[in-house]
Amino acid sequence: MSQIRLGVIGCGGMGQSHMGVFKENPKIKFTAASDSFQSNLDKVVSTYGVKGFTDGYELIKSGLVDAVLVATPHYFHPPYAIAAIQAGVHVLVEKPVSVTAKAAAEVDVVARANPHVKYAVNYQNRSLSRWSKVRQMIQAGAIGKIQRVHWTITTWYRTQAYYDSGSWRATWEGEGGGVLLNQCPHNLDLLCWLVGPPKRVTARIGVAKYHKIQVEDEVIAILDYDNGAMGTFVTTTGEAPGTDYFEIVGDKGKITLSPQTLGPLTIEWVSNEVSAIEFGRTTKATWATPPNCKHVITVPDTGGGVKAMHANFANAILEGEPLIAPGIEGIHSVEMANAMIMSGLENRPIDLPMDREAYETLLQGLIAKHKK
Ligand SMILES: NC(=O)c1ccc[n+]([C@@H]2O[C@H](COP(=O)([O-])OP(=O)(O)OC[C@H]3O[C@@H](n4cnc5c(N)ncnc54)[C@H](O)[C@@H]3O)[C@@H](O)[C@H]2O)c1
Repeated sequence: MSQIRLGVIGCGGMGQSHMGVFKENPKIKFTAASDSFQSNLDKVVSTYGVKGFTDGYELIKSGLVDAVLVATPHYFHPPYAIAAIQAGVHVLVEKPVSVTAKAAAEVDVVARANPHVKYAVNYQNRSLSRWSKVRQMIQAGAIGKIQRVHWTITTWYRTQAYYDSGSWRATWEGEGGGVLLNQCPHNLDLLCWLVGPPKRVTARIGVAKYHKIQVEDEVIAILDYDNGAMGTFVTTTGEAPGTDYFEIVGDKGKITLSPQTLGPLTIEWVSNEVSAIEFGRTTKATWATPPNCKHVITVPDTGGGVKAMHANFANAILEGEPLIAPGIEGIHSVEMANAMIMSGLENRPIDLPMDREAYETLLQGLIAKHKK
């Protein structure tokens, strides 16, 4: 096989933006589409000349696809992923893999039982050269033992008109969360990809603070890691101008990414000549800091993004290339989001892995409250 026959389930904004670039990949043949909203489906069927299905499960069983891309609202990602994997159809789900860690774990059980079927998640920021370089540097020990990570990511400003553009958006029943479930999955995924999931999350959240919505639109969280490192994560959809500032500090130095001030392809790396911890313990000087060296690294613009994810997904199926973002890794960012919401609402730290049943109960309570 030199080409995969791909179906898309969910023909809204993101589904159509994927479709727009399939033609750039000769290993992908777009053959079928599904949407529960007839006019969205009709538009895609007439534009691309593919077979249309109002029922995504019928598309999966149609025999017209080797793989599917799921770009529906998040709650439908797990049931479609499970149906596809069980049918032997490879699946690339949009982020987040699910609304709750419990639902993600259910998909993971099926995926692990069917390792011949590829299950990937569209965390396309992993394919950006600056993030893969930072990961490589951390793994190579460029900053030594991790002490602290921080990300202020408030460039997710959204208007009320955006929230009003889809009835599922920013509701507990339709979306299952706010900025943490829609905008920040990319950031939470990168944090987990770089340093692993934290062992404890403590958060303050603002619910409907800046918009007429049901869910959180502001978060400040403290993260505790197994090795004693600490982290802070700051986000909102209600601040403009926003800030995107990431730094990670180890005893041997610091890496900073600040696309707005350094540019999107620049990594600032300050390397300590000796461990700051060791230096502090051993120096006889009363006022001193360890000598260091500043490096400005420019990474190549390799493109990345959804095209890279399509290529990787097709290559994984056709040639066994390792997935950039295996679906089973998607649970970590979902669990961080769940833990931040629970911590914020219940005003207490949440240990990870969290009590996933308790989170389901909390979420169902929120859904019921807003139905009244
Ligand atoms: N990777 C990214 O950067 C990125 C960017 C935007 C959105 N997304 C993700 O893509 C998904 C869709 O977001 P969107 O902005 O395209 O939303 P959207 O509302 O524009 O599109 C969703 C589509 O799914 C359809 N749909 C709803 N329920 C369905 C069902 N059960 N079966 C089949 N179709 C169904 C809707 O009719 C709609 O056409 C979300 O999970 C979102 O997080 C990812």
